[in-house]
Amino acid sequence: SATIVARAPGKLFVAGEYAVVTPGEPAVLVAVDRFLTVSLTETTGAGGIHSPESARPSLRWTRDAGGLVVAPEDHSYDYVLSALTVIERLRAERGIAPRLYDLTIDSGLDDASGRKFGLGSSAAVTVATIRAIDRFYRLALDRRTLYQLALLATIRIAPSASGGDLAASTFGGWIGYRSPDREMLRRLLDAGDAVASVLESDAWEHLEIVRLRPPRDLGFFVGWTGEPASTVRLVDAVGRGAAVGAVDHAGFLRDSRACVTDLWAALDAGDDAATLDALRRARGLLQALGAQAGLAIETPRLAALCDAAETAGAAAKSSGAGGGDCGIVLAPASADVRGMLDAWEAQDIRRLTIAVHPPEGGD
Ligand code: PMV
Repeated sequence: SATIVARAPGKLFVAGEYAVVTPGEPAVLVAVDRFLTVSLTETTGAGGIHSPESARPSLRWTRDAGGLVVAPEDHSYDYVLSALTVIERLRAERGIAPRLYDLTIDSGLDDASGRKFGLGSSAAVTVATIRAIDRFYRLALDRRTLYQLALLATIRIAPSASGGDLAASTFGGWIGYRSPDREMLRRLLDAGDAVASVLESDAWEHLEIVRLRPPRDLGFFVGWTGEPASTVRLVDAVGRGAAVGAVDHAGFLRDSRACVTDLWAALDAGDDAATLDALRRARGLLQALGAQAGLAIETPRLAALCDAAETAGAAAKSSGAGGGDCGIVLAPASADVRGMLDAWEAQDIRRLTIAVHPPEGGD
C-alpha cells in the first residue's frame, strides 16, 4: 500500500509563556516553516519506528489483542507512542480493525548535528503522528479534534504542558490560545473513559484557539543562542517559587493577561506600534518572573540577543520557557536590521532563516 506522509510545523511562543500553563490564561504563538515528517507504511507481522536522521535505535513492535506491544523500553519515542495509544483507542472505539505499520520520523527542527533549536519538536512529532494515523484509518477527524488528541497524548507524558505548541503546529499561522483543564482531562483518561467522551467533556470549556492576523509590516527574525533549555525544569522551578511565595503568581497572571490581551487586540487591529509595545512588555514580565524565581529565564545570551534587537529599534524577547533556545524579534521598517545581525554574529548568536508558516486551510 502507498506510504502516507504527514508533516507538522515547529512553533515559537510570542507571549504568555508560563501564564498559559494555567487553564484559561492567554498566549500568542506562531507556527514556523520548519517541519517534522512522519511517514507511515503498512506492514504485516511487526512494525516499528525509525529515525534515519538520528543515532537513536529504531524501535519495533507487534500487536497483541489489539494493542501495540513495544519492546524494549525506550523513552526517545514517548510522544509518538503516546499519540499512537490515544488515537488507537479512538480507532478501537469506532470498531475499526487494527493494522500494523512502520513509522519513519524525519525532523527538520534540529540543526545538522541533531541539536534542538527549541522549535517544538515534541509537539510536532505528536501532531504529525496523529495526522498520519488519522489518514491511515480514514478517521476523517477535523482540525480541532486532531489538536485535542495531540493534547491528550502530550499530557500523558508532560502533565503541565499547556498545549499551545500543539495548537500552533495543528493550525499554522499566528494563534491566540487558552488552554483547557488538563488535570481533569488526565483524570478522565486515567479512569478509562472512552476517548470519544473525553473529547466532549467539560474540561475543554476554557480552550480557545483563535487565528490571529499577522503583523501588518513587521519583519520576523529568530536568533538561536545554542544553549539547550529544559522547559520542564524551568516550569517546575517557577511553580516551586510560587508555592513558597517568592513568585507573586497572581500578580504575574494578571500582568501577563493584560499584556497578551493587548497583543492579541493589536494584531487583530493591524496596529504594529501596539504590537511592538506589547512584545517589549512581555519581555519585561518574563525578566521579572525569572528574577523572582531566581532563574535565568532570560540567560545572558538571550539578553544579548534581545538587547541588540532593541538597540536596532526592534522589539525582542525570549521565546517559550527561555533558559536558552531562541529569541524572537519583530522589526519595523525603520529598524537597523543589518546592525542587529552584525551584533548577533559578533556574539556567535545564529540567525535561523525561518519564516512564519501560514495558517492551514480547512477545519
Ligand atoms: O520552551 P517551550 O517552547 O516548550 O515553551 C514553554 C512555554 C511554557 O509556557 C513555559 C510552558 C507551556 O507548556 O506552555
